[in-house]
Amino acid sequence: MRGKTVLVTGGTAGIGKETARGLARLGATVILVGRNPDRARNAADELSQEADGEVTVLPADLADLAGLRRLAEQVAGRYGRLDVLVNNAGGVNAERRLTRDGVEATFAVNVLAPYALTCLLLPLLRTADGGRVVNLTGGLPDGAIDPDNLQGEKTFLGWTFTQYNHTKTALMAMSHRFASLLGEEVTVNVAYPGHASTPGNRAIPMRAFPYLYRPVAPLVRLLGPLLLSDLTRAARSSIHLASSPEVEGITGAYFDARTRRASWPAGALDARGQEAVWSLCERLSGLSPA
Ligand SMILES: NC(=O)c1ccc[n+]([C@@H]2O[C@H](COP(=O)([O-])OP(=O)(O)OC[C@H]3O[C@@H](n4cnc5c(N)ncnc54)[C@H](OP(=O)(O)O)[C@@H]3O)[C@@H](O)[C@H]2O)c1
Repeated sequence: MRGKTVLVTGGTAGIGKETARGLARLGATVILVGRNPDRARNAADELSQEADGEVTVLPADLADLAGLRRLAEQVAGRYGRLDVLVNNAGGVNAERRLTRDGVEATFAVNVLAPYALTCLLLPLLRTADGGRVVNLTGGLPDGAIDPDNLQGEKTFLGWTFTQYNHTKTALMAMSHRFASLLGEEVTVNVAYPGHASTPGNRAIPMRAFPYLYRPVAPLVRLLGPLLLSDLTRAARSSIHLASSPEVEGITGAYFDARTRRASWPAGALDARGQEAVWSLCERLSGLSPA
């Protein structure tokens, strides 16, 4: 990865930080994006010590469309080219809330931000020789997309992870559509990391868990580091898709936690669902890949 520039959203903690570590060790220049400038700088300092490439920070709130535009301008101004975009940041919200742009917060970070950032950075990815986009899915993205409930307008069940799962199916649908539009010019693939104990999932409030799970949740959290994947394993698929020559030219593919190509969930391939997600992303962001 020497000579390549990679941007990792959510690179300040958890799986994103581990992905950034792996890519920096391979010699890439890595840009970490997170909301908190101090946390981002600390992560960059830590990774720099073991990196072969440069690790830098661009703080931004991915739930803010103006912030995403500023971020893309900064990347263009400083680097002029981008080889890999890893849309890693994502999360769960126990209650429905809207961002400053009026977008439901889970949809904003899990779907709209990857869509908008890919559109905004596409000119830079096109100047790279084989630009790549890697999007991180999670949860149980095997349900159908409900075009009328993408932002939890009808029902918002944060406590069963319903909105999280729905947004991850929507992210996969959007990624699949993006890949088919771009062809091999810039590849777009989806990685599943498996379950890992991260700051994000340790901070999920108890009210976000299904009732039946709540009595055992504290024990599972305590045993998390033993029961769940370690971060190195959870970052494998993202690192593979971002860097491996084996996946050069492969696009529109879904890779499991063991870096194996997997079948897409049916809901992500449904044409009506894809169209609903795509047009919502276009309308909310005012952006399109053209
Ligand atoms: N952990 C798991 O078991 C698991 C399982 C399946 C899928 N996944 C997926 O893997 C990805 C990473 O998960 P994780 O558990 O490692 O996450 P995490 O521990 O919650 O870390 C999240 C990262 O995203 C950043 N972030 C969150 N919201 C942001 C925002 N609005 N603007 C900018 N940065 C933001 C955080 O940065 P700051 O806090 O510094 O701003 C942090 O660096 C997510 O897409 C998740 O859905 C995770």
